[in-house]
Amino acid sequence: MSGARAAAEGADLLVTGIGELATPLGAEARRGQAMRDIATVPDAAILVLGGEIVYAGPAAGLAPAAAALGLGEGGLAALPSLEAGGRAVVPGFVDSHSHFVFAGHRADEFLWRAGGLGYMEIHRRGGGIRRSVEATRAASLERLVELGEKRLWTMLSLGVTTVEGKSGYGLDKETELRQLEAMGVLAGRVPVEIVPTYLGPHSVPPEFEGRPGAYVDYVITEVLPAIRPLAPGESLSPSGETGAPAARFCDVFCEKGVFELADSRRYLEAARARGFGLKLHADEIESLGGAGLAAELGATSADHLLKASRPDLERMAAAGVVATCLPLTAFTLRERYAEARAMIESGCALALASDLNPGSCYSQSIPLVFALAVLYMGLSVAEALTALTLNGAAALGLADRIGSLEPGKAGDLVVLDAPSASFLPYHVGMNLAAAVVKRGEIVYRA
Ligand code: NIG
Ligand code: FE
Repeated sequence: MSGARAAAEGADLLVTGIGELATPLGAEARRGQAMRDIATVPDAAILVLGGEIVYAGPAAGLAPAAAALGLGEGGLAALPSLEAGGRAVVPGFVDSHSHFVFAGHRADEFLWRAGGLGYMEIHRRGGGIRRSVEATRAASLERLVELGEKRLWTMLSLGVTTVEGKSGYGLDKETELRQLEAMGVLAGRVPVEIVPTYLGPHSVPPEFEGRPGAYVDYVITEVLPAIRPLAPGESLSPSGETGAPAARFCDVFCEKGVFELADSRRYLEAARARGFGLKLHADEIESLGGAGLAAELGATSADHLLKASRPDLERMAAAGVVATCLPLTAFTLRERYAEARAMIESGCALALASDLNPGSCYSQSIPLVFALAVLYMGLSVAEALTALTLNGAAALGLADRIGSLEPGKAGDLVVLDAPSASFLPYHVGMNLAAAVVKRGEIVYRA
């Protein structure tokens, strides 16, 4: 049985010797001030049976809880176990925004930007996303799987147990479907849970130069019908059977000069009618109102939001749209950081994610995301932890089964090589994952 399948089916595991168990609690996103309230339990234990947590709390409560489940001392001792040795344990990280399936690289553009050229200027000169599109169109399914697999293992080694992956580097039907298919293959290979997103309207392809509306028509009539919509709460099955290319969400780069509000709305409404959940790259470079559109359409998340207006943030909060901040992108593009405090004060549920992609952010460093959020966005450790776990899960519609360490949730966790979760930002940019567990299966050890 592959590691991915074992993790999906779920294993038994007893985790003992936890110096600090730090986790948000609940089956839905934590909004506004509630992001601060995490549980911090010293001297704790976690019991996972069949991939699901049945106990998470003080070590002293373990034996009675196990007895109530019909597990005596002998039964507990017979379970596979992991001794944390006084280290801290947190929920597996949920990277709810990434573009991990692409070919080629744009190292030169990174250096041009470092020299002062703007991201949109490079885009206008024929660089940017289009170069990755050329390389991705030229890559076979096997090559995309090979590249994606390497990136996923890196993410897993950083403590990421669930990852969202976007298409958007093919733009034509054939390559977009190939990107989604690659994720289907990878779900059977790597023990990370994958939630696929179709991002056809990521850039206007050369075939539709200057005609974004015509490209959106093509996407709606030709591509969307070829993608199988996953049900809410569903992720890719690690069975190894790929089936038709599938996606849970549809996303759009809603930006001035790319796909503006009317085209974005038309596309998102068509996607919603087919059963897809909605996501937007919104108000990243200019304040266009994408965040307001996300609220109006009831999107699951709106992401980037560097220029989102306060009234739009309030609309997002009222509509329950998760605000996803991507500080590694702001860092790489040398932009100011999103106004996380304003989002939290507006009552939004804030999530943090990597945005791993070949252009604006070639990094999947969750450790750096954590440090940037605390150092430059004003988040507390508790808020950043909530944003990277439970609220990341909510940004994928999965908060009822992952994102926190409590009975009923999946046994997805990270043992940190540190005594407390506060080391996550403090040990700046360093990987603290000593062991990573997916549904009770130990899938990585440092
Ligand atoms: O999420 N902003 C648009 N899309 C990506 C960047 C894509 C690229 O530069 O390749 C993002 O930042
Ligand atoms: Fe992105």
